[in-house]
Amino acid sequence: MLAPVLLAASRSARMRKIVAAAPVTRPVVDRFVAGERLDDAIDVVRELDARGLTVTLDHLGEDVTDPSEALRARDAYLRLAEALHGESLGARAEMSVKLSAFGQALAGGHDIALAHITPVVEAAAEANTTVTLDMEDHTTVDSTLAILDVLRDRFPQTGAVVQSYLFRTEEDCRALATAGSRVRLVKGAYKEPATVAFQDKRDVDRAYVRCLKILMAGGGYPMVGSHDPRMIAIAQDLARRFGRKAGEYEFQMLYGIREAEQERLVAAGQRVRVYVPYGTDWYGYFMRRLAERPANLAFFVRSLAGR
Ligand code: FDA
Repeated sequence: MLAPVLLAASRSARMRKIVAAAPVTRPVVDRFVAGERLDDAIDVVRELDARGLTVTLDHLGEDVTDPSEALRARDAYLRLAEALHGESLGARAEMSVKLSAFGQALAGGHDIALAHITPVVEAAAEANTTVTLDMEDHTTVDSTLAILDVLRDRFPQTGAVVQSYLFRTEEDCRALATAGSRVRLVKGAYKEPATVAFQDKRDVDRAYVRCLKILMAGGGYPMVGSHDPRMIAIAQDLARRFGRKAGEYEFQMLYGIREAEQERLVAAGQRVRVYVPYGTDWYGYFMRRLAERPANLAFFVRSLAGR
């Protein structure tokens, strides 16, 4: 019941101010965010690497409304790519980008986002790593997939994300499940209308399994983005059924969530990648995590009450 309210709040400037000003917010945010600085993120990459985990780094930011913010987002990713290069971490850590942080919603935003993401993808390739384009609300999907298409001409390893809650996604999976294509499948984290997305969790889960089947059967590299034990077990069954060995697909989970499960999978020989957000603009990301899971919200409320 609360999830739609929290997801609406995740895009409210007024709520952003209230939540950010609450003194207890920070410790709760720290559960999900690696830190504010690039150095914090690199430290976390090293820690996770020591535990056998790979990483995708997200410089927090989204929904920019000013062209100068889009440039700042691009520059933050260029610095990240440079750091990964300098520290020779490209084989262990890739980058996840939200195109709305690169100006996708501005007037002429499609071209602006493409112009800003291109040097980042080039810098990633120089650093021996790659970029995955996060997927945002349904109004952005066509633009994001079109930008992906252009980037893949020169950088076929650029990753896509698809969301099983959208009706269109099975079709998108079929189109994307081709040789060399890296595709992260998630359930979807935005508030979407019934005209475009399943509203019942069970339907979202069923669609997730159908999409997994398409990706595992196809020629690409499936990236199973979920904390759900059922989806993880089904992914392993499907991988076996379609003759994929560990390393011919991977599991992905968010920083701070189900760490014991991440380690269990690594110990079982699976490849696991942790999505590590860092930076100061944590509000939207944080609110989506609260919306996803009542226990996260309860932790936040208990912190408030404990003061
Ligand atoms: P879901 O929330 O449906 O929970 C199912 C079950 O999983 C729970 O009942 C519980 O057993 C277990 N579980 C879930 N969370 C847990 C926790 N905190 N602790 C213990 N158990 C837990 N979304 C999007 O729209 N665009 C994107 O680009 C991305 N990118 C992305 C990257 C990665 C690596 C991940 C893991 C996720 C995303 N997402 C995303 C978010 C995604 O869409 C989704 O909102 C969350 O992953 C939550 O869905 P789950 O599949 O994890 O399970």
